This record gives sequence, structure tokens and C-alpha cells, in this order.
Amino acid sequence: MAEVVILPSAVSAGELGAEFVARLVADRPDAVLGLATGSTPLPLWTALAARDLDLSRVRGFALDEYIGLPAGHPQSYRTVITREAVEPLGLTAALVHVPGDDGGPVEGAGARYEAAIAATGGVDLQVLGIGRTGHIGFNEPGSSLASATRVKTLTEQTRLDNARFFDSLDDVPRHCLTQGLGTILRARHLLLFAFGDSKAAAIAGAVEGPVSSSLPGSAIQLHPLVTVIVDEAAASQLQHADYYRFAWDNRLDFER
Ligand code: GLP
Repeated sequence: MAEVVILPSAVSAGELGAEFVARLVADRPDAVLGLATGSTPLPLWTALAARDLDLSRVRGFALDEYIGLPAGHPQSYRTVITREAVEPLGLTAALVHVPGDDGGPVEGAGARYEAAIAATGGVDLQVLGIGRTGHIGFNEPGSSLASATRVKTLTEQTRLDNARFFDSLDDVPRHCLTQGLGTILRARHLLLFAFGDSKAAAIAGAVEGPVSSSLPGSAIQLHPLVTVIVDEAAASQLQHADYYRFAWDNRLDFER
């Protein structure tokens, strides 16, 4: 079962997440981080930046990237990751990868990205947000639970949700490259964040099931080490919230 931690605010969630990253990097300065985009990871990046750690040897792999945006577009995930994570955290840009950024054709980009991840020994800690459709990365409903990095077509709901970052809905790409659910499940530790009412149904489905490709986030139930960090609003549809609070408050010393 995922460890579910319900905290009063996104700020405190970011601080707890930063603690996980800090411990990992203290142990392994060249750790491999899985990086997520969207608004959800921002409190984590803020809390991590405040710790002023040396993250210059950390290697990073973004979950996903739009297809069709020109290089340097402010909403390409390469640009977003650079602006929101690489620069504030002091990551080394050349060690941070985004699907499709190797200069090769889109065809085959998924397999090349999988090979690049495997060559590092795999992702140690994968940061995740979740979309309102229950997607993680850009694995929209129907994604195979064993999927690898590949091209996906975005749902209209996801395009509408992400239109706030673009001038108009027409400017939101229809396709993307995304790590698959199988790729995500190969990371050694998953750290899933969600904040606000709009994520409550997706979080309840992801944590409490059933496991189904119709709600891709539910794939986390197949993983042996998952930490779900949510605020009260995102936790509001969890059936077993009281138990999660009890388990967290009473965790044993070695788990702290
Ligand atoms: C995008 C990203 C996802 C992210 C989701 C939620 O679709 N590809 O990785 O989890 O948005 O975004 P937000 O965190 O802004 O709610």
C-alpha cells in the first residue's frame, strides 16, 4: 500500500518531499531523479532550493514533453524544467533529459529515452503529479499498465486544463512523448503529490483503486514503495484517511 501523508498545506508537502530528496542525495550525490512538470511540483522545488544543496551531479529525466512546440517555446517541458527546476536547484542542464531532446526523429524517441534511463541504472526517485483525468506523466486513460515511453494523443480535458499556459486552446499541442506507466513503475521510489479539490477524485481512484488503465494513476498500487503527499482538499475523498493519518503519526523510529 502507498504511504499516504495528509498535510495542512502544499508548502508543508513540499518540505516533506524535499526531505526525501535531501536524504537520497546525501547518500548518493549522483542520484537519478524523475522530474515532473505542472504546478504541483512547484512547492517541492521551492523547498529544495531553500536547502541550498549541491545537486550539480544529480541526473534527471522528465516524465514527458509536448510534440510540435519549437525549441525554446516557453511552455515546452524542456523550457519549463529548466526554468522551474534546473536553474533554482542548481542542477546541471546537460545531465537533465526530456523525451525527444536527443536530436533524433520522434519515431524511436521512446525507445531511445528508455535506453538512456536504463544506462544510468534507473530512476531512484520519481516525482509525480496527477491530472484530473487520473493521468500521470501524460498517460491518459486507457494507457497500458506496462507501457514504455511513447507518443500519446492528449485528451481534450487535458488540453483544456493546460490551455491556461498557452495563448489559446488551439495552441496546445495534441501529441506528446511520455514515459509509460511501466517506465514509472521501474523507478525505485514514487513520490506523488496532489493539492486541491480538483484532484480529490483522481487521488481516491489512484490510491484506493481498483487498479485500472482507465485511471492510470492507480498503477501506483503495483509499486512496492510509494509516498503520496496530499493536502486536506486532495485527501477529501479518501475512504481510509483516518487510517493513513494514524499510520503516519505512529510510524516507527526507523521510518522517520
Ligand atoms: C500535465 C503533466 C502531468 C501533471 C499534470 C497535472 O498534464 N503532464 O505530469 O501531473 O499536468 O498538472 P498540475 O500539477 O498543474 O495540476
